[in-house]
Amino acid sequence: DSRTDSANGDTCVVYGIDELVVGPSRNESDDTPLEIREDAALVAVDGEVIAVGSSEDVTREYPPENAETAIDADGRAVVPGFVDPHTHAVFAGDRSDEFEAKLRGKEYQEILAEGGGILRTVRAVREASDDQLVANLTGHLETMLAHGTTTVEVKSGYGLDTETELRQLEAIDRADAAQPVDLVATFMGAHAVPNDREAEGYVDEVVEEQLPAIANQGIATFCDVFCEEGVFDVAQSRRVLEAGLEHGLTPKVHAEEFVRLGGAELAAELGAASADHLLHANEDDVEALVENGVVPVLLPGTAFGLGEAYADARAFLEAGAPVALATDFNPNCHSRSMEFTQTLGAVEMGMTPAEALLASTHSAALALDLEDGTGTLREGAPADAVVLEAPSFAHLAYRFDTTAVDVVVKAGEVVVE
Ligand code: NIG
Ligand code: FE
Repeated sequence: DSRTDSANGDTCVVYGIDELVVGPSRNESDDTPLEIREDAALVAVDGEVIAVGSSEDVTREYPPENAETAIDADGRAVVPGFVDPHTHAVFAGDRSDEFEAKLRGKEYQEILAEGGGILRTVRAVREASDDQLVANLTGHLETMLAHGTTTVEVKSGYGLDTETELRQLEAIDRADAAQPVDLVATFMGAHAVPNDREAEGYVDEVVEEQLPAIANQGIATFCDVFCEEGVFDVAQSRRVLEAGLEHGLTPKVHAEEFVRLGGAELAAELGAASADHLLHANEDDVEALVENGVVPVLLPGTAFGLGEAYADARAFLEAGAPVALATDFNPNCHSRSMEFTQTLGAVEMGMTPAEALLASTHSAALALDLEDGTGTLREGAPADAVVLEAPSFAHLAYRFDTTAVDVVVKAGEVVVE
């Protein structure tokens, strides 16, 4: 039976941990949003956490010398593996010259309107081979893993036609199987209006042609749309997301990034898993998202790279929202590090290091509807853990030079050391 199986399975013991971040605090009266144990240990069998407790008790029951994998974490902190819930990591080509143009004052939307930006990456992706897309994505995932990220959401949206959108999702599926980081796929055919097309006619294509093919392929979990002035308006975004729902895809929305258009209200109305960006969200948006259980995903790297004002993280936190952070990794925001994202959350958005870590783990998992304990290290959760080369988790937000990550454990196995 399964108990015998797990008794014979691969055991991983991490012991002598100075500071173990187990997950969100379960006590409302706590003054920290995290549940933390000192001098702790954890045990994983077959990729799942089966015991968490004092190092003394746990190592008595599960002696490290008997385990297939044993990590002495003396002097170090251990945190859940990071979840990056918003990336556009499957792409080809180079847009560093656009970065230079933006430094000289050119606007992001101006570049897009001239056929650059997303549309330029679309041309590069259409020309790239399947193998090239997989290789590019796999390379980025390796960097993410080295910075402690063990679960990543990846969007399509650089195809903008049925064939290439399917190819991007297929590349996500292949990369998922080829390396340790777990991937969650999102269909984003409505990422931009292709050259020489009208938004309305293109939305017809997304709804009538792309979505049925994507649903039939069966890789994507979510359907996302760029609800933005000059891209897709609220009515067009609603059409895409409602059609996605009919095909079993849960909505997500790029909302209120450059102007306040109504994407957050739409996300609330449709019960989206998340509303993302939210740089221009107002109090009504905050309230609507909280009331409807939509996770606000904030992307400080995008604001940093574009020199824009940051989203109001404190307004969301004070309203009781489970704020999540993400890199938004894409050719316009070249950051694969959830560590640097936490630094930006703390320094630029006034989050405490504990809030930033919670936003990068458990709350980020909520933005992906992952409710199996991902983003925590409680019993029953996937054994995805990061051993820091530091005595406290605060070093994640505090450091912004290289990395505070020492060892990464994915599903109970050491994958970075
Ligand atoms: O989330 N805003 C739309 N999509 C991406 C940018 C993609 C790109 O510029 O290639 C974002 O920032
Ligand atoms: Fe995005």
